[in-house]
Amino acid sequence: MFFLISSFQVTLFLLVKFSILWAYPSGPPLSTCEFMTPHHPENKPQTTVAPYNITVSKSSYTAGENLTVTISGTKTFKGFILQAQGTNSPVAWPVGVFNEIPDGAQFVYCSGGEPKNTVAHNNPSRTNWNSRQFTWMAPAKSPGNITFVATIVENYNTFWTKVESSVVAGPPAEDVTRGAPTESFQIDKTGCGKTKGCYSLPPNCAGSSDCYYLFTCQVSGGSVTIEMSAKQRWVAVAFNDQKKMDKMDAIMCVTMATNLAELRHYYSHDHNLVRQNLAGNSDITLTKIVYEDGGIKCKLTRKLTSSEAHFRDLTKKWYLIFSHGKTSPSGSAQYHYDNKTFTGDMVDISVAAVLVDEKSQTKETISKDGCGKTKSCYSEPDSCKSSSDCDYLVTIKPVGDKGESGEVEYELSTKKQWAAIGFNKEKNKMPDTDALICADTTPRPASLDLVSGESKGGVLSCRFRRTKKKDDKMADLTEKWYLVYASGPMSGDTIGKHSFRKTSSEMVKVDEVGVLGAEDEDSGMIKAHGCLMVIAWVGFASIGIFMARYMKVAFGEKVLLGTKAWFTFHRSLMVLTVLVTIISIIIIFVHAGRWTKEAGAHPVTGIIVLVLAVIQPIMALFRPHPGEANRYIFNWAHRGVGLSALIMAVVTVFLGIRLPDASLEDSALYAMIVYCVGVAIVIAFDIFLSLKKDTRSASFTPAGGDKDAGGHVQLEPAAGDQFVSARQLMLGFLRLLKGEPTNTNIEVIEPINKLVEYSSPGRK
Ligand SMILES: *[C@@H]1O[C@H](CO)[C@@H](O)[C@H](O)[C@H]1NC(C)=O
Ligand SMILES: *[C@@H]1O[C@H](CO)[C@@H](O)[C@H](O)[C@H]1NC(C)=O
Ligand SMILES: *[C@@H]1O[C@H](CO)[C@@H](O)[C@H](O)[C@H]1NC(C)=O
Repeated sequence: MFFLISSFQVTLFLLVKFSILWAYPSGPPLSTCEFMTPHHPENKPQTTVAPYNITVSKSSYTAGENLTVTISGTKTFKGFILQAQGTNSPVAWPVGVFNEIPDGAQFVYCSGGEPKNTVAHNNPSRTNWNSRQFTWMAPAKSPGNITFVATIVENYNTFWTKVESSVVAGPPAEDVTRGAPTESFQIDKTGCGKTKGCYSLPPNCAGSSDCYYLFTCQVSGGSVTIEMSAKQRWVAVAFNDQKKMDKMDAIMCVTMATNLAELRHYYSHDHNLVRQNLAGNSDITLTKIVYEDGGIKCKLTRKLTSSEAHFRDLTKKWYLIFSHGKTSPSGSAQYHYDNKTFTGDMVDISVAAVLVDEKSQTKETISKDGCGKTKSCYSEPDSCKSSSDCDYLVTIKPVGDKGESGEVEYELSTKKQWAAIGFNKEKNKMPDTDALICADTTPRPASLDLVSGESKGGVLSCRFRRTKKKDDKMADLTEKWYLVYASGPMSGDTIGKHSFRKTSSEMVKVDEVGVLGAEDEDSGMIKAHGCLMVIAWVGFASIGIFMARYMKVAFGEKVLLGTKAWFTFHRSLMVLTVLVTIISIIIIFVHAGRWTKEAGAHPVTGIIVLVLAVIQPIMALFRPHPGEANRYIFNWAHRGVGLSALIMAVVTVFLGIRLPDASLEDSALYAMIVYCVGVAIVIAFDIFLSLKKDTRSASFTPAGGDKDAGGHVQLEPAAGDQFVSARQLMLGFLRLLKGEPTNTNIEVIEPINKLVEYSSPGRK
């Protein structure tokens, strides 16, 4: 939901730079319609007497009469724009219409009068003409005496403006009323973002009485009702599929010379705004229009889809272009590139959104000015000043109504790839958090009334508004909530796991400005749970198993606390493992308070580990004595369950590490991987040794080997051998790790052969 900086400035620049008559073989731009003077400062019209004449077939006319008008000269010309103007009448707009034009010419609908009131060149081949002839028909209501006025272009740099015919006398001027009947009215912003879409300049103005520019739209049935106002003489909205002026469908309300106003439709093409004839068009209807208090206001209805030429299908999304400006004395709209804004994103006008323009998005950094006074803020770190130096920044500002219908404006910024502000009733619970996320994705989440944003200089920032009470899927912001602050990376178009998250220490009402605090996510309990589990399984259980597997021989008959030393260690470590596991599971359930689906498979595997861990000592309690018939069943069951528990525990730890709530860095994952690699090496070594033993057993009978009732090799190490064996074992590990061949060292292999038996000869 951020938007790339568009090319519109470039486009507008080009529009201004080249808004010169002769630069357009296909015809002059609208700006020449009125003054018939190019607005480009570098290319001035010739000041010499024009080498051209405009001659008219008659020196006077009557209503509806056809006159022949000819442009000719002592030099050739490539371009022109020609119209008839009242000489001494209030009716300054082009009068009459042309009805016959020669090759290389086109009709132009200049402001005020009828379509075809002006003619201009259409000369892509850049033909040099000696003369051009037109037929002009006088209007039914006389504008009085007229002259034909033209700008004539010899070539790219040479042109003459205001080339005039002699006066053509007409009947006394009649009172021509143009424009729609006017009626005083106001447009207000009530319902903006709720029942209607709005855009205004400045963004916080209240309505047509104080907005410099205001646009509202409300879709109902197959039509959209549009209201527009500007503190100038014309106001417009346009729809386009690109952030450019070219090919836009523009609706314009324009005040004319008489202060009467009219609705117009333009289509821009090739830097040329072409006025469309709305006569007989029922797809767009003007409801109200008035020029009063120094501004134009209008209200109109347009069918969303229309078969009329150049009407965009408004059921689709478009960039909206908002503009306003002055008019020339006769009511021709004068464009100024400063007073044009584009929406940053394509807009669905049926969504009642508070729209913002791209310009205001790109200019602003989110500042902490006014924090605690006009807006509530939270930043990370606390000492940062604005979005440019904060790692995370959120500001919350109530706007508009105090009550339920009011809105809250949020600003979010982060140096990461997404930032979010969430609302939750419970502390430290991610589930059910209603989060507003600012991220570099398209399309934007539909839940927001407004999204604006940009990604610039490594800082992502957004500003958006949301009604306090929208629907049941969203948090009712008239209530108190815990605020959840978070930011993190993206993977492709998907929001990645948060790398920062804190929660407000108290429940907050977002429409009350104050100082927002935060406390670290209460991950203490989660961390304790994780640490205990790692201590239990990676620590105690692993060592305990190692004791039983390898130290039996090393410790030999050594007795500690009444049993063989290795068994004392094994049993104690395993009992500790079970106890710590139980404690850790209690801790996490106390913390979570329930079964959390969000944790995925982690709790499931965790419970399996718990069950296996608890079975283990129970099984051991009822184990048959060594030598008893069923002892081997126990041996295998004990090993199987123990190893399964360890494997499940490791899997569970891995699953746990990846949970967002663990708030762990990747280093935790690497530590676990190192552990697994270590275990794998031990196992590989073990397998390697037993294979070695198998090959050796073809030629050797293991010393001291005999078989117990279960058919297992029962090996007792030679007395005094045990520590040597342990040392040799370690030496073997080292050599293996160093890649040295170990199989040559028979002393290492030998005691290992004796370690395959898991039974506990020392137990009573
Ligand atoms: C002028 O020309 C138009 C179009 O050719 C025609 O409809 C109209 O009747 C003519 N006017 C007169 C007075 O002949
Ligand atoms: C119109 O032109 C005629 C002839 O040039 C002139 O006599 C007359 O006074 C003019 N009318 C107005 C209102 O200027
Ligand atoms: C453009 O708008 C600004 C205010 O936003 C105003 O001060 C300025 O006069 C306008 N310029 C034109 C040419 O309308």
